[in-house]
Amino acid sequence: MSSAIESSASPASPASRRTICVAVVGATGAVGQELLELLAERSFPYSTVKLLASARSAGKKLKLADQEITVEELTAEAFDGVDIALFSAGGSISKQYGPIAAQAGAVVIDNSSAFRMDPACPLVVPEVNPEAMSDVKLGQGSIVANPNCSTIIALMATTAIHRAAGVRRMVVSTYQAASGAGAAAMAELETQSREALDGKPADQWTQDIFGRPYAFNLFSHNSDIGDDGLNVEEAKMIRETHKIWANQKTPDGAARKFPPEGADGSGVSATCVRVPVMRAHAESINLTLDQPLSADAARELLSAFPGVSIVDDRAGNRFPTPLEASGKDDVLVGRLREDRSQPAGHGLDLFCCGDQIRKGAALNAIQIAEMLVG
Ligand code: A2P
Repeated sequence: MSSAIESSASPASPASRRTICVAVVGATGAVGQELLELLAERSFPYSTVKLLASARSAGKKLKLADQEITVEELTAEAFDGVDIALFSAGGSISKQYGPIAAQAGAVVIDNSSAFRMDPACPLVVPEVNPEAMSDVKLGQGSIVANPNCSTIIALMATTAIHRAAGVRRMVVSTYQAASGAGAAAMAELETQSREALDGKPADQWTQDIFGRPYAFNLFSHNSDIGDDGLNVEEAKMIRETHKIWANQKTPDGAARKFPPEGADGSGVSATCVRVPVMRAHAESINLTLDQPLSADAARELLSAFPGVSIVDDRAGNRFPTPLEASGKDDVLVGRLREDRSQPAGHGLDLFCCGDQIRKGAALNAIQIAEMLVG
C-alpha cells in the first residue's frame, strides 16, 4: 500500500480541481524539508504528496502541515501517477531518475545542476525569466531546472538594473553558507563550532564533509577547480547567467542582450567562497552598465522588483546580513552606491543576502510549480 497521504486541506483554487500528485525526491534533506514546509505554508494545491529518499530513510515519518507521511524508497516505479516531481537529492540521482519521472508524465523540477545547461530544459527564476516556462505543461512530462543558488540570488539583485540600464559586466564575490552543501554540512559546522569552543585544536575537529576546518574560518568554494582556474560554482554562475538572461527586455520592450552587442568576454567574473554561516548566502556585486543609472534610481527599481527587499540604512550602518535573510523569502539588497572607478553613472556596487535553502533552492522550485497550477 502506498504511504503517500491524501490532503485533508482540500485546496480551494480552481487549478486544484485537477488532482495534483507531488513527489519530493530527497525529502529528508535540507532542501527537501524546506519544500515540505513551503508546500504547507503556501497552500500548494496538492491532493497527494509522496516522499522519496534512500533506502536508509524508508519508513521514516515526516511532517507535512499537520499530517505525517511515511518516506518511501526512491525507485523507478515511484513516479506512476505523479504530476510534479521536486528533485533535491543530488546530481546523480537527478540524472538517473529525472528522465524516468518525465517519461512517466511528471514535470520534474530539478534542484541539481544535471540539466541546467541542457537546451531542452528551461532554467527558471520566475521573477526573472518566466517566459522560459511557456512550453511546460502539466500532464506533459518534462524537466525544468532550478538554477544554482548563488546565480538565483545574484540575478534577483541585478535583473531590474539590467533591464533598465544593461549590465555590460558583473563582478561577483560570494560568501556562501553551509546549507549549499546539504544538511550534513550544516551539522558539521555546528559540530566544529562546539569543538572549537571546547578548546579542541582545529586539526582534530570533525572534518567529514569539507575535509578542513570550517568554523571560524573561510575557504575558496569546495567544488573542483577546472583548467581555467574557475571552480565549478564560479563556472555555473557564468553559464547560468547567460541562459537566464537570454531573453531580457528593456522597459520599451526591446531585446536586452547580455553581454551587449560588441562586448568582449563572458561578462561575468565570479569568486565563490564558503563562509561559516548556516543558511543564507551573501554576495558583493560590482556592475558595469551600458547606460548611466544612479544608485538612487537603482534602489527605486529594485524596491519595485518582486522578491527583493531593500535594506540600505547608511545612517544606521545597517545593511543585509545572512542572519536577517535566513528564513525569509525575499533577497535583501543594500550598500547600493555608485562605483566611482568607472565613468560617471556606469558603475554600481551592491551587497545582497538571500536564504540559500528558500529562494536559492526550495522556494524557487515551488514558485516554478505554482506557475504550472495557475
Ligand atoms: P537520505 O536521507 O535517505 O540519505 P542533503 O542535500 O541535505 O544532504 O540531502 C540529500 C537528500 O538526498 C536526502 O533526502 C537523501 O536521503 C537523498 N538521497 C541521497 N542518496 C539517495 C539515494 N541513493 N536515493 C534516494 N535519495 C537519496
